[in-house]
Amino acid sequence: MRSADLAVLGCEQLVTCRGQIPKRKSSLQDVGVIENGCIASNQGKIVFIGNEKKFNEEVRLEENGIRIDGKGLVGLPGFVDSHTHLPFAGTREQEFVLRLKGYTYQQLAEKGLGIQTTVKATRQASKEDLVSLCLSRLDRMLLHGSTTVEGKSGYGLNLEDEVKQLEALQKADGLHPIDIVSTFMGAHEVPQEFKSTKSEYIDLLINQILPRVKEKNLAEFFDVFCEEGVYSIDETRKLVRAAKEAGFKVKIHADEFSPLGGAQLAAEEGASSADHLINITDEGIQKLANSQTVATLLPAVSFFLMLEKKAPVRKLIEGGAIVALATDFNPGSSMTESMLFVLQLAVFTMKMSIEEAINASTANAAYALSRNEDVGSLDLNKKMDLVLCEAPNYPSIVYHLGINPIKHVVKNGQLVIKDRKILKRK
Ligand code: NIG
Ligand code: FE
Repeated sequence: MRSADLAVLGCEQLVTCRGQIPKRKSSLQDVGVIENGCIASNQGKIVFIGNEKKFNEEVRLEENGIRIDGKGLVGLPGFVDSHTHLPFAGTREQEFVLRLKGYTYQQLAEKGLGIQTTVKATRQASKEDLVSLCLSRLDRMLLHGSTTVEGKSGYGLNLEDEVKQLEALQKADGLHPIDIVSTFMGAHEVPQEFKSTKSEYIDLLINQILPRVKEKNLAEFFDVFCEEGVYSIDETRKLVRAAKEAGFKVKIHADEFSPLGGAQLAAEEGASSADHLINITDEGIQKLANSQTVATLLPAVSFFLMLEKKAPVRKLIEGGAIVALATDFNPGSSMTESMLFVLQLAVFTMKMSIEEAINASTANAAYALSRNEDVGSLDLNKKMDLVLCEAPNYPSIVYHLGINPIKHVVKNGQLVIKDRKILKRK
């Protein structure tokens, strides 16, 4: 008999996403459904997953243990949001209104709006302001099913403010049930004060900011915006190599607006992921397909910027790339904390299958953050990060639009959302 301190019995369906991870090609179609599934954990780790008969034979729920009736509920692994710009200050509704009048995102960036607006607001904010902004956003993320979230700096663009953003993430991580994975993105833009001396900023990043972030152990990943007018392929390569040298894992914002070849570079440099990829070339697809670099797609960006063009998900999957989905939560190109919404957009606007979208939001997203041994699938000894949706079956969570079906969330074996309410922060 195994003992458990939390058990969910008789879910309509338990979607496990287990199996070999990362998932490529047709294995993305398998979400490992258990009908009438039961799952139990002890001290945060999954100790049982299977049917009710076996549960009764093998598991003893402790006297004070929590028992949840899964009737009418579908269980899934907590979503892993592997790309967000979480610690920013200020919002950009005015820019949104200008876009509705016909200005493009890039035209606004050229006018000094866009990222620079958020840089100003974030530089002005205190660390405490940023922590409290992060906490309310993390609450919304949890309510929409994310239990592990990556967060990037990149609105400070100097030593002090980049460190402030990363320290805010660290603080928020300690205060909130969601686990945060931190990324240093000092190369998100070129700061206004270095516009005509970009190479000096690159030197500053490499020689001063990167080592300081490492020394303070504030980030696990490094990210760079490889884009026309931001960082070129050569500049990106230089930055990425310096980051790897300093001990960071790497991500690249690649081929978002122009096909510079960021995807190829990401594969060549062994990056953990290449993100965006709306304008990836066939060569880029080929390179990613033959690599361990995850193709992280962000369908909320095409939707939010009202771009006709979407990342070529079918070609990526058929070629054999590891595909993940994320929100890219940020105030300029994707103002949403909801992975549920991203799943729906992936299916409705990119024509991913429901199963592909679920695996891409869980197992493969965890792989993009090097967390697949712990989270992203429901399997023995992994963390009990479980989302319980009021739904008759799992396709329903994509099919039923504009509502939030999530009723309970378990994080690390603790019930953190009960009956749609946040129970506690840490
Ligand atoms: O991932 N592409 C670059 N950076 C963000 C947008 C940031 C902003 O507009 O504030 C992105 O889309
Ligand atoms: Fe981004």
